Amino acid sequence: MTELRKRIEESVAFIRTKTPLEPATGIILGTGLGGLSREIVPEAVIDYGEIPHFPLSTVESHRGRLIFGTLGGKKVVAMQGRLHYYEGYTMEQVTFPVRVMNFLGVRTLLISNAAGGMNPQFTRGIIMVITDHINLLGDNPLIGPNDDTLGPRFPDMSEPYSRTLIVLAERVALDLKIRLERGVFVAVPGPNLETRAEYRFLRFIGADAVGMSTVPENIVANHMGMKVLGFSIITDECFPDSLQVAKVEEIIAVANSTEPRLTAIMKGVVERLPVVQSAR
Ligand code: HPA
Repeated sequence: MTELRKRIEESVAFIRTKTPLEPATGIILGTGLGGLSREIVPEAVIDYGEIPHFPLSTVESHRGRLIFGTLGGKKVVAMQGRLHYYEGYTMEQVTFPVRVMNFLGVRTLLISNAAGGMNPQFTRGIIMVITDHINLLGDNPLIGPNDDTLGPRFPDMSEPYSRTLIVLAERVALDLKIRLERGVFVAVPGPNLETRAEYRFLRFIGADAVGMSTVPENIVANHMGMKVLGFSIITDECFPDSLQVAKVEEIIAVANSTEPRLTAIMKGVVERLPVVQSAR
C-alpha cells in the first residue's frame, strides 16, 4: 500500500469514529461562499485540525471544518474552508480532502469559487457554471508515482465537468430565474491578481474566468472517477483596457452578496441528484 493510501485510510478511520454517515455528494465551498453550509442539517462537524493528515486552512476568510449532514434530503459532506496552492501546500495536500471524501462514499463533487471575469459579457455578481478548465498552475496533483488503486496513470479529461450535471444546474437556475452563464475557467497560482497583459493573454487562450483554485480538486476527482460540477462567482471585471484596482474586500463582498443565489442553485441540484450506490 502506498503512503498516500495509508494516510487516506487513517483519516477515514478517524472520521468513522465520529460519524457513520456515507455522503454520496461532496461540496467544496470557496471564498465568501460558506452560506450553503448553513443549509445543511448537520449530523457531525469535524475541525480539520482533529483529522490525521488533514492540512489546516490558513486563509482568514476560510474556516477549516468538514460538515456532515443532509442537504435537500441527501447525505452530503461539505468542506468549509478550502486549501490553496498559494498558501504553500503541496498539490497532494490541497487535494487530500477530495481523496478522503471519495473513500467516505462521495461520487459527485460540487465545487465553488470566486473568480475574475474576462468574458466581456460577464458583469460582477453573476454566476458561471464551469464547462471546462485550463491548468496554468505549473503543477499537478498527479505528478509522482501513481497509485493504481486510486486511479489510472493517464486519466481522461474529455469531460472534466459532467455535462449531465451542467444541464441539471441550468434547469435549476432557470426554474429559480437566476442568471447562469457557461464558461471556461483558468487556474493560476496567485496570490497576486493578474496584470493587464496576463488578463489579455488568459482571455486570448480561451478562458472566461480566472481563479486560484478548483483545478487541482477537479483533477483528483477525475482521477478517482468522480463526477464534478463547478461554479464561479464573478467577483471582479478583468477587462484589460478598463481595469480597475482590485480590492480583496470588494471581491469578498461581491462573493457574499451573490452567494444566496449560488446556494439556491447548489441546493436545488443536490435535491435533484439521483441516488447512487457507492462502491470502492
Ligand atoms: N484573478 C485571480 N483570482 C481571482 C480573481 C482574479 O481576478 N478574482 C477573484 N479571484
